[in-house]
Amino acid sequence: MADFSAPQDQYSHDLHYPPGPLRPTYGAEISVTVDGGSYTARLGEPLIDVINRSGTQLPQVCYHPQLGPIGTCDTCMVEVNGRVTRACTTSVAAGQSVKTAVAAANQAQREGYDRLMGRHDFYCTICDNNNHNCTLHNTLGLLRPEHQQHEYRPKGYAKDFSNPFYRYDPDQCILCGRCVEACQDVQVNETLSIDWSSPNPRVLWDGGVPINESSCVSCGHCVTVCPCNALMETAMLGEAGLMTDLPLPVWNAAVDVVKGVELSTGLQAIMAVSDIESKVRDGYINKTKTVCTYCGVGCSFDVWTKDRQILKVEPQEGAANGISTCVKGKFAWDYVNSDERLTSPLIREGERFREASWDEALDLVARRFSEIKAQYGPDALAFVASSKGTNEEAYLVQKFARQIIGTNNVDNCSRYCQSPATAGLFRTVGHGGDAGTIKDLEKAEMVICVGTNTAESHPVLATRIKRAHKLRGQQLIVVDLRKHEMARRADLFLRPLPGSDFIWLNAVSRFILDQGLAAEQFIAEKTTGLAEFKKSLEQYTLPYAAEQTGLSEAELENLARRIAAVKGGVCIAWAMGVTQQCGGSETSTAISNLLLITGNYARPGAGAYPLRGHNNVQGAADMGTMPDLTVGYQPVKDPEVVAKFQREWGITLRPERGLDNTQMVGASLEGRLKAIWVTGEEMSLTDANSNYMSIGFEAMEFVVVQELTFTNTCRYADVILPGAASLEKEGTFTNTERRIQRLYEVMPPLRGTKPDWQIYIEVARRMGADWNYAHPSEIMDEIARVSPIYAGVNYERLEGYKTLCWPVAPDGTDTPLLYVNGFNFPDGKARLFPAEFQPRQRPPTAEYDLHLNNGRMLEHFHEGNMTFHTAGITSKAPDTFVEVSPELAAERGVQTGTWVRLVSPDGAVRVRVLVTDRVAGQEVYVPMNARLYIDTVNHLTGLNHDSVTHTPAYKDSSVRMEVLGDVGENPMPRSNPRYGHPTPQRGVEVQRKWAQPGYTMPGEGGGTAD
Ligand code: SF4
Ligand code: SF4
Ligand code: SF4
Ligand code: FES
Repeated sequence: MADFSAPQDQYSHDLHYPPGPLRPTYGAEISVTVDGGSYTARLGEPLIDVINRSGTQLPQVCYHPQLGPIGTCDTCMVEVNGRVTRACTTSVAAGQSVKTAVAAANQAQREGYDRLMGRHDFYCTICDNNNHNCTLHNTLGLLRPEHQQHEYRPKGYAKDFSNPFYRYDPDQCILCGRCVEACQDVQVNETLSIDWSSPNPRVLWDGGVPINESSCVSCGHCVTVCPCNALMETAMLGEAGLMTDLPLPVWNAAVDVVKGVELSTGLQAIMAVSDIESKVRDGYINKTKTVCTYCGVGCSFDVWTKDRQILKVEPQEGAANGISTCVKGKFAWDYVNSDERLTSPLIREGERFREASWDEALDLVARRFSEIKAQYGPDALAFVASSKGTNEEAYLVQKFARQIIGTNNVDNCSRYCQSPATAGLFRTVGHGGDAGTIKDLEKAEMVICVGTNTAESHPVLATRIKRAHKLRGQQLIVVDLRKHEMARRADLFLRPLPGSDFIWLNAVSRFILDQGLAAEQFIAEKTTGLAEFKKSLEQYTLPYAAEQTGLSEAELENLARRIAAVKGGVCIAWAMGVTQQCGGSETSTAISNLLLITGNYARPGAGAYPLRGHNNVQGAADMGTMPDLTVGYQPVKDPEVVAKFQREWGITLRPERGLDNTQMVGASLEGRLKAIWVTGEEMSLTDANSNYMSIGFEAMEFVVVQELTFTNTCRYADVILPGAASLEKEGTFTNTERRIQRLYEVMPPLRGTKPDWQIYIEVARRMGADWNYAHPSEIMDEIARVSPIYAGVNYERLEGYKTLCWPVAPDGTDTPLLYVNGFNFPDGKARLFPAEFQPRQRPPTAEYDLHLNNGRMLEHFHEGNMTFHTAGITSKAPDTFVEVSPELAAERGVQTGTWVRLVSPDGAVRVRVLVTDRVAGQEVYVPMNARLYIDTVNHLTGLNHDSVTHTPAYKDSSVRMEVLGDVGENPMPRSNPRYGHPTPQRGVEVQRKWAQPGYTMPGEGGGTAD
């Protein structure tokens, strides 16, 4: 287990290990002798790391650099100063002389390995894991034993196939504990353990229940790190090998043949055959790097495919995620090959659609756009880019709008979530993005999560906070309405009244300033506007804030003092609980102000972290799909920007702000907007007030929707263009860290579909543009030319797993940590901005007496259009529901499964109740995802919106609950991990293995005299 006790005051990217969870910072540099050579090492680091850096081939089955030393396999035995010991659990110390190849060490390595062989049946040739990357197999090749001494003994437990995504085979499990370490201390779901006191140990889920009845969230960490085939992705089984899909009796007979031959030929002959079989697989299994298409964490991984069949997702060295994924990135890819994919353009004929050729559809789009522009002017058209498309595609959308049509009516879905956060940061620090990276969130002494259900909405980012909290004692404060996982884990969980975050934030800021607890030097040297800011806080006394927020004065004072006392950095992460309010921008500003007065910017482990929702919502905004800013947040009315684009695009940018997403619908109803082109955005479900949206879409003359499947928004289309999925194209995404990453074509576009960027080009050309991009890299070259924050970005610098965090200087230098050289204003100083409280517009009333909250679920992404295609996902989260608190359930006489109708001033939905203490009192919660359009929560939300950005105030909604009487099934199946009972412990607790009666470390006490 890693030792996190060492101080972490250095900000540096770890060059020695694949990216992944933060490694401890080790001590002074010293020299260690390995097999006679002298190597640089750091005091306290695992000796095995030095040996690996030296290039020495040392067996190491349980060691994984992203997990740290585990100490279970006993194969990494070396002699240190004459004594045989494990290289992984030995820390570097002065004066060490290490020998890896002496007889005593070698004998111990073999003994350790042979014990593993007693737990694992070597049938490599017919094993789906025989893919060059089986650590157990490769170690056999390294040690080259001829015969095994410890006879293989099956453990006698049944294989567990209960989980839809992976299976566990106890008989193949070598008890290395990698899976337990990953689950306990990287994912920090704390599901797995090994009961070392059992005479016949195995890996246990929640202490010993079937996987699908446990707390397992199917993140796949355990499967990814398993060094053999004991844990495997179900999609690999019978599919990866040449002969692995044999019927079971034949397969069993084949295993017997392989084992029988081994007795006469020895292991190495068997290995030779299996190595040939493994090489043959290279001819039909492709491994292609991509970036996850779901949330803004930006996990990257290799996708293994056999033709279009996805065998598995293999995360290893992604800069944001290392070995980590969540269930969606690891397993929810069935939408790509779904039968429901659109494979031909569709053209409306009356109430029906008919298939059309690409030429016919594109000609029609170009012709109608030209006609509408000629008849009504350019502002009669609007364009919505996809936050799931690539940067290059988003760039072309706004270029199309501005250069070809001549309008600023262009937007993306950050309007629905993140625009207020960006507005707050623009006001105060000057860049609309996370202040640092996920590593900073790990390094922080304190993380405050406000209005973010991080463990479900940004699962891998949450793992890093959970890990730092668990292993390093990072302080975790959660301020939220719901008691979700992060709230349960928090050191301090506060539940203010809905919509009151602005008030407690300002009260805390005022208290800190009044009490002389602020970072005065930082404020004096690095900020402006203190006097006005202080004035804006006058109202926010603790008694006032207590009255308005429902938090006590003592709680507020305690919070303020805790924040002010932190020396090692405070990060504040926030999401839609803050931004989807009438005061989303103002509250985001208040967050940034609080960080400024406490000096929590421009240093490692500190800053503002607006957690971006969609995989490329940051990029879509960076690319200028906004009504007032073009690429790189350059204002369309800035004369220098106008001149630049005059040169580059040959047009004069219009200076006036265009329509944003929410205004487009209103403009349609007013008859001003006649046509819209929507790419990959389920606007009719995700915008607030679905009924209003429908009328707005119906009122338009010409609607083009570019999509993967026939979504609800397609119902309003005149032309539907089938786009390609992210796995079917090249491009870049920019994650919440401002990290730009390349995705490669995993499989060609499904027949009949085209990547979005090609579709834009084809329409543009039909409308007379000379767009001649042959590859997305050429689009990126143009982006770099016109956007200072992407200036040094090109595909070469992003090759493979290489990444860049913007701003990127022309020489390729990127900026993982912002503001170190000043804030993004001409004077380099941050601005304390006097924000203004925006009250709720739709608080509960006598008629609509319950506050309606809404948000994401771990299993689904957003409205669920993509994730509902994966059967395993829907088995765990089949549909929508309404969370009702136990007290409200008692008051209204409802139970889990009761059908109710939720009614708001704008609509109604019929859903089943889920009684849970995640919600309290008179608050109900409905997830965003629903199987059917008529059940979606946005039938209940209204037109109230953020005062600055027009982001719908989804969270400012009220409903009444009508009990319908009948009781249906529990909407949350028992296989959902919410019902599990985790078994928290520190790692695999190897000391308990070492304490087993009869256990001795191989080579114990042995060695050669020094
Ligand atoms: S939560 Fe489940 S899938 Fe994830 S590491 Fe733990 S046991 Fe494995
Ligand atoms: S299942 Fe876990 S303990 Fe067993 S071999 Fe795989 S990683 Fe090791
Ligand atoms: S959904 Fe987010 S956390 Fe999950 S794998 Fe994708 S990028 Fe990572
Ligand atoms: S690698 Fe050291 S004990 Fe397994």
